[in-house]
Amino acid sequence: MYAIVLQLSPIPLTMRTIFYNIGSLQTMDDKLPISFGNAIIVKDNKIESIVESIEEYESSEANLVDVGGRAIVPGFIDAHNHLVWAGDRFNEHNLRMQGHSYVDIAGMGGGIMQTVTSTRESTDEDLLAIGKSRLMEALRNGTTFLEAKSGYGLSTEHELRLLNIVNQLKSETNLPSIHSTWMGAHAVTPNHNYESYTEEILSEQLPDVLDSGLADSADVFCEPGWFSIEQSEDILRASRQGGLDLRMHVDEFTDGGGGELAAELKVMTADHAHHTPMDTRITMMEAGVVTGFLPGTPYFNGDQWPDFKDVQAQSIPFSMATDFNPNCFTNSIPFIGSLVVQRNGISPYDALYCVTRQAARSTPRSDGLEHGVIKEGAIANFNILKSRHWESWCMTPSSSPVHSTCLEGQHIEYQ
Ligand code: NIG
Ligand code: FE
Repeated sequence: MYAIVLQLSPIPLTMRTIFYNIGSLQTMDDKLPISFGNAIIVKDNKIESIVESIEEYESSEANLVDVGGRAIVPGFIDAHNHLVWAGDRFNEHNLRMQGHSYVDIAGMGGGIMQTVTSTRESTDEDLLAIGKSRLMEALRNGTTFLEAKSGYGLSTEHELRLLNIVNQLKSETNLPSIHSTWMGAHAVTPNHNYESYTEEILSEQLPDVLDSGLADSADVFCEPGWFSIEQSEDILRASRQGGLDLRMHVDEFTDGGGGELAAELKVMTADHAHHTPMDTRITMMEAGVVTGFLPGTPYFNGDQWPDFKDVQAQSIPFSMATDFNPNCFTNSIPFIGSLVVQRNGISPYDALYCVTRQAARSTPRSDGLEHGVIKEGAIANFNILKSRHWESWCMTPSSSPVHSTCLEGQHIEYQ
């Protein structure tokens, strides 16, 4: 586990904080050119303005932060993260080296089931500490907002326990804020088949989750071998009826028709989607569904490397995220950026757009404030990078590119 010491500047939140002497400012606001402004004025938890000169503030009571000519980019949004689980699955790498696929390993009782067992055996205190340490690591790598899925409980009792833990993490201060997703439909335990578990979800688990008020979204692993199109549709429609936003895992290993269901249901985001055919991608786009690519997964699985050229050529909007889970062990958005910039020729700007503006579309804040952008009125979430060049955000995969972070108005420095 990582222990990262955070140092908070003791600034009362009613005061202005002015981040000045910016080397390059990449706001991701389409209306502003890259280097507009030398300073960001923050008031309370919001960006008040972006200015070229701080003269008028110099004699005020404002707290001045000299960023030393460093670059600033928006805080990253991790729009797909399986945050809370215990144990690990590094033993499975050997099976992969012997030629076994993710599907084979799951069939042998490994995969998600191995993690469900270790998670159920852990105490609430352990899971809370694990979640907190992972959030700190995500923040250290520039993530200021994160979607966190349950899905390693797989019974009403254990799924609610995980949602409760995420809820406790939500109230921690000085950590990324969280969008909480219930993913009871992630796999089945040996006492069930998919049909009987779907019935249990619909009659018992989902009603209890809705009663708890702990989930913002519902997600289903819709893939041949896991939840069928019909089962996914039943769970998602009932979840929407109960007021939840919808997300899906689709077409991760093969085109299983999940993308089409995503478009039909107009879900917020259809993730993985590496095997979704082009006509379905276009239908998804027309239905307003965000495609959420997760290149960390084929990287760790050793699966065929995705190609984003056709998707870019069709101007299909997509986000990217970590998919942090025992089989994709990274909480670093800059690492994901590095993968696609170095291996796919995606530009640092386009990759940054995926983890800020596009991620904000699929993963909005519950207070309605804009995020993933540096502009007047948006939440004051941004990263001060170690370099003066904003492109560095995705160029240092073995260490965090982030020097310090403004998190909801608080300047957080790392030791
Ligand atoms: O998004 N594919 C389904 N769920 C996760 C993996 C979960 C696991 O292997 O533990 C994913 O990759
Ligand atoms: Fe996932």
